[in-house]
Amino acid sequence: MALLPLMFVLGLLADASSLDNGLLRTPPMGWVPWEHFRCNTDCEKEPDNCISERLIKMMVDRLAEDGWKELGYKYVNLDDCWAAKERDSLGRLQANASRFPSGIKALADYVHAKGLKFGIYSDLGNLTCEGYPGTTLDTIETDAKTFAEWGVDMLKLDGCFSNSSARAAGYPKMSAALNKTGRWIVYSCSWPAYEGGLPPKVNYTLLGQICNLWRNFGDIEDSWGSLSRIIKWYGDHQDTLQPAAGPGRWNDPDMLLVGNSGLSLEQAKVQLALWAILAAPLFMSCNLRTISAEARDLLRNPLLIYIDQDPLGVPGRRIAKSGQFEVWKRGLVDHQYGIAVLNNGTGQTPRPFVTSLDLLHILDCKTGYKIYNVLDRSFLGEYRCNATLSFTVAPTGVVLLFLRPLS
Ligand code: GLA
Repeated sequence: MALLPLMFVLGLLADASSLDNGLLRTPPMGWVPWEHFRCNTDCEKEPDNCISERLIKMMVDRLAEDGWKELGYKYVNLDDCWAAKERDSLGRLQANASRFPSGIKALADYVHAKGLKFGIYSDLGNLTCEGYPGTTLDTIETDAKTFAEWGVDMLKLDGCFSNSSARAAGYPKMSAALNKTGRWIVYSCSWPAYEGGLPPKVNYTLLGQICNLWRNFGDIEDSWGSLSRIIKWYGDHQDTLQPAAGPGRWNDPDMLLVGNSGLSLEQAKVQLALWAILAAPLFMSCNLRTISAEARDLLRNPLLIYIDQDPLGVPGRRIAKSGQFEVWKRGLVDHQYGIAVLNNGTGQTPRPFVTSLDLLHILDCKTGYKIYNVLDRSFLGEYRCNATLSFTVAPTGVVLLFLRPLS
């Protein structure tokens, strides 16, 4: 414990522009129910799939026992629909008693006992998006205190039923209230997503000072159309978004669809590759009891996680667009690189792609690189600085390369 305050101070010295809680030096990883389980509250009909302590505990067990935790998937978060429709007699939020009979504190204790971290959801409005009680300006302090007493490690504060002025007052106020609790709570702000995600309505400098991560854009849906819209938006606005993120302050392009039914395997690879290039949070939102071996292997790719979690924390950028191809590049620690070549074309066979380190604007090449195909888990070989690289990329698919300098 004695080390923690020192790490905290060093964190502040290293990066005075992020939220002063020293948390999330790399993007968070974990599991959240929303994409897969939505607001299913019918525990009579679907006892195994309704939003309840039973469901959360089952996922906690999977994360702890199936090797996810060791890879970094540490946060287990509630999303909407956990709360009772009324606050308690002291004005505090409380869990729905039939679905969470042991209460949230006991659930957080369960999560902690398994070596994981626990996140909760609220909304800066009278109601959450699904109509449960939200956190108004008047209840911010009470709710922050309640969450801290329950042992919450992360809060997602949504923005349904709020307006711009309430958000401008409320998001910073919750940040201060969380800090005041004395518990270190990661703070995820949906604020920018409700303001169109861009300046002048969004102030990313301020966000970096008060939040650890933020949703910039609309909700992801389980489809290629939704995924490719999000990727395009992050590329089109990278001059604003890329510098906004760094250790302790991350853009959140939303949860992972991988393991659900809307994406093909190649499309699932696209999401993971691009999320790693973007230094995005990796929150799974699938059924971990029944996940396919293919989806599991993708989500557990160690080199992909290594790229996502790079300690420099500098998100990558889209560096080229040519026809149906896009090239994205992320600079990593020790002059390493992650390169994603995305093929947006549909309905064709895999297409050849030829490039070179020059074309990729890799300006610090000394001798050359060892190059790995991350998603195939294969070693492509050693390449000199002037080498040509050629490979094929599947339609609505991606090739993710990892480059390590030759010593
Ligand atoms: C909003 C958020 C989603 C999810 C739902 C829950 O739409 O953007 O991520 O939290 O609310 O109601």
